[in-house]
Amino acid sequence: MDRYILALDQGTTSSRAIVFDHEGLPVASCQREFPQHFPQPGWVEHDPLDIWRSQRDCAREALGQAGIRPQQVAAIGIANQRETTVLWDRATGEPVAPAIVWQDRRTAQACDALRAGGKAALIQQRTGLEVDAYFSATKLQWLLEHVPGARERAERGELAFGTVDSWLVFRLCGRHVTDVGNASRTMLFDIRRLRWDEELLALFDIPAAVLPEVVASSEVVGLAAEEWFGHAIPIAGIAGDQQAATFGQACHRKGLVKNTYGTGCFMLMHAGDAPPVSHNRLLGTVGWTIGGATDYLLEGSVFMGGATVQWLRDGLGIIRASSEVEALAASVPDSGGVMLVPAFTGLGAPHWDQYARGAILGMTRGTTAAHIARAAVEAIAYQSAELLAAMQKDAACAVLEMRADGGAARNDMLMQFQADLLGIPVVRPRVTETTALGAAYLAGLAVGFWDSLEAIAAQWRAERRYEPQMPAGRRAELLARWARAVEHAKGWETP
Ligand SMILES: Nc1ncnc2c1ncn2[C@@H]1O[C@H](COP(=O)(O)OP(=O)(O)OP(=O)(O)O)[C@@H](O)[C@H]1O
Ligand SMILES: [Mg+2]
Repeated sequence: MDRYILALDQGTTSSRAIVFDHEGLPVASCQREFPQHFPQPGWVEHDPLDIWRSQRDCAREALGQAGIRPQQVAAIGIANQRETTVLWDRATGEPVAPAIVWQDRRTAQACDALRAGGKAALIQQRTGLEVDAYFSATKLQWLLEHVPGARERAERGELAFGTVDSWLVFRLCGRHVTDVGNASRTMLFDIRRLRWDEELLALFDIPAAVLPEVVASSEVVGLAAEEWFGHAIPIAGIAGDQQAATFGQACHRKGLVKNTYGTGCFMLMHAGDAPPVSHNRLLGTVGWTIGGATDYLLEGSVFMGGATVQWLRDGLGIIRASSEVEALAASVPDSGGVMLVPAFTGLGAPHWDQYARGAILGMTRGTTAAHIARAAVEAIAYQSAELLAAMQKDAACAVLEMRADGGAARNDMLMQFQADLLGIPVVRPRVTETTALGAAYLAGLAVGFWDSLEAIAAQWRAERRYEPQMPAGRRAELLARWARAVEHAKGWETP
């Protein structure tokens, strides 16, 4: 009887479920979008029950499509949108408030106050993170202060906090846990000692009783109850989506780098077995713990990646589907000197400017929609090039190639321009659903479905390799021009 792994990829805009076979190839998949809520400018919320139900339903559908019996599923692996904060009632399992999504900026001023109060160094040293509304701590603090009765109930141990991994595991098997990698994104976790940090809990006024138990990324944490999939299946792997994608790209050794071109762009480099310290405003974060050993990552995130193309579609209306950007951008030989800085929600790494806003520069009477489309695609590559430059400075090692995945990595022009800007090859693997694949691998390792990292790494195969073709002088010229464009976008909005 063939056996499989069921991977759940709970993303920001959709839930996905993919069934993988022993070769690490997908045999069935299902995707469901769910509603986004924007109750006030800068706020982004999800209904935790939409998250749970869309994930449960597409998992059932993927299993149905695969045509396998639930007894054939060796384990479940979970990858999740990170930092998004859920607070629920332990007794009933019902959420007490909407989930506050990672993109939500409602706590930006609380973060300004932390920096002004001189807390940034302590926080970076303990957690590896920049002080930013992106992470969970200020979101949880906000919920405890604004949901009536929440603080008292949390102190009495009646409420549970968790990121989306915790929430799904709780619904599936009743345990309240999170993996080390997800814990490292809360801004409450000591990434050296690998435990919740008392000083930070006091700083954010978070009662310890509300926190999940921290577990390894690859271990059996419980059995998903029979009612969900017709058989009790071990939940054996948990990782945040970017950690999972890094693992799925087989970046298991120091210096290997992947970039995911999804809604945002997330570049992660394996940093070895000690927490990296960034001097270039990147994040140091826990990758995964397997069999007692913990690997660390260096991370740079860009908020607007593929979402820039969505803006061409929904905001400007110059394309009807994201994939149409390829033909429109290819209808001109270059961007005609136009640069588009997609700082629509501020700038992430390495700038961390909450008040930057989008800008289009260099337009002339000859500028057309095609030039703007081309500039939008190129902007994704320019931002990613800034991340790699910061990473190379921090890591003081040469990066030989970059592994690419995510929805926008399908775009050949983007991949070629990326290789040209980086001056190193960009490689797209045969399986681009690396987030789900990484979760599957973590789960499969825990139950002996795969027996080693080497066995997994051997399954990674390049589908296409993009070699840099641009002369170095031209590359330097373009990057300098981009740096000037970014300066124009910075600090546009006033706090
Ligand atoms: N051909 C293309 N060229 C450029 N961008 C594209 C192309 N096709 C899709 N995209 C972009 O890719 C993104 C979707 O990628 P993906 O499905 O990996 O997103 P995601 O980040 O996993 O979503 P979530 O945040 O819900 O997890 C969209 O922003 C879309 O605009
Ligand atoms: Mg995703």
